[in-house]
Amino acid sequence: MGYKIAVVGATGNVGREMLNILDERQFPVDELAVLASRRSLGTEVSFGDKTLKTQDLDTFDFSGWDIALFAVGSDATKKYAPVAAKAGCLVIDNSSLYRYDTEIPLIVPEVNADAIEGYKNKMIIANPNCSTAQMVVALKPLHDRATIKRVVVSTYQSVSGAGKEAIDELWDQTKSIYNPTDNKPPKKFTKQIAFNVIPHIDVFMDDGSTKEEWKMVAETKKIVDKDIKVTATCVRVPVFVGHAESVNIEFEDHLDEDEARDILRESPGIMVIDKREDGGYVTPVECVGDYATFISRIRQDSTIDNGLNLWCVSDNLRKGAALNAVQIAEVYVNRILSKR
Ligand SMILES: NC(=O)c1ccc[n+]([C@@H]2O[C@H](COP(=O)([O-])OP(=O)(O)OC[C@H]3O[C@@H](n4cnc5c(N)ncnc54)[C@H](OP(=O)(O)O)[C@@H]3O)[C@@H](O)[C@H]2O)c1
Repeated sequence: MGYKIAVVGATGNVGREMLNILDERQFPVDELAVLASRRSLGTEVSFGDKTLKTQDLDTFDFSGWDIALFAVGSDATKKYAPVAAKAGCLVIDNSSLYRYDTEIPLIVPEVNADAIEGYKNKMIIANPNCSTAQMVVALKPLHDRATIKRVVVSTYQSVSGAGKEAIDELWDQTKSIYNPTDNKPPKKFTKQIAFNVIPHIDVFMDDGSTKEEWKMVAETKKIVDKDIKVTATCVRVPVFVGHAESVNIEFEDHLDEDEARDILRESPGIMVIDKREDGGYVTPVECVGDYATFISRIRQDSTIDNGLNLWCVSDNLRKGAALNAVQIAEVYVNRILSKR
């Protein structure tokens, strides 16, 4: 028996990846609707060997549909997610709109799948920010063993995290560097992104941090443990897909680097590639299209009593968005829908 699934934002980066992942994981789909704005009405998207035409979200009737995977910005989510939820269709939302609502579960299935029960509150479940999702997959098993006190994270985030226009901007600007008559000034980003790095993602907060940095703090607390202190610096880099993070972790208890490596090797969603030799670590281009969060460079931080450093890389369109949303849908099917 399958289910009626709607992919909302099916022409976007995350929406297209959701379709790939539903197909790859053989999600039990009976009927699939692909929705976007009126602008792209009739645009064709692929689902396995099929081609589907997008429908207009504005006129779509969610009655009788089981799950809507939302991958549109917060404004469209605000307008349409309550409509779907009211019709009894579970919304799994990728925007940041509902993540901090105490009545709405924020789920990374490897970490807090049990929070699924909270779906009943509003028929909405939130998917975390891409940079948080990959980090908490690595933090959770280490926290269970040695209790994390504080995390210092610096991110190296790809342009696909900012949507399809951002990908075009990096591509066009990179080409224009070689052809100076074809000037491509920044539009999506605040400064030139080609051959550059930008320490600014999302808007500035009153304390000088950015909203992206704040999200990593608030979401780690909500998903893993409210007592973990996190400080983040989020940076955009000229990489198309794949976010990387340098993570420094301080624990209550001592955790040896070899034991940490063994724990991570046994943990769901993680692949440890950690050889202390040239190329014995994972970089963003190698993680593209993969499900795993890759951990490398695990080593003791000798400047504090109980500290470790590690390097964490994952496909932001997958674990950071589409894969995580489909995994939440799988939990909902296995624990709730299939029991009815
Ligand atoms: N990219 C990531 O790594 C990532 C990670 C986590 C979360 N997210 C979140 O996921 C969402 C989608 O991101 P994305 O990277 O896929 O963006 P994107 O590539 O720019 O795609 C946006 C999608 O939303 C649709 N859309 C926009 N406004 C709409 C409206 N008013 N009505 C109906 N459809 C509308 C677009 O349809 P048209 O083609 O018709 O314009 C398109 O399908 C965002 O909320 C983003 O913050 C992204």
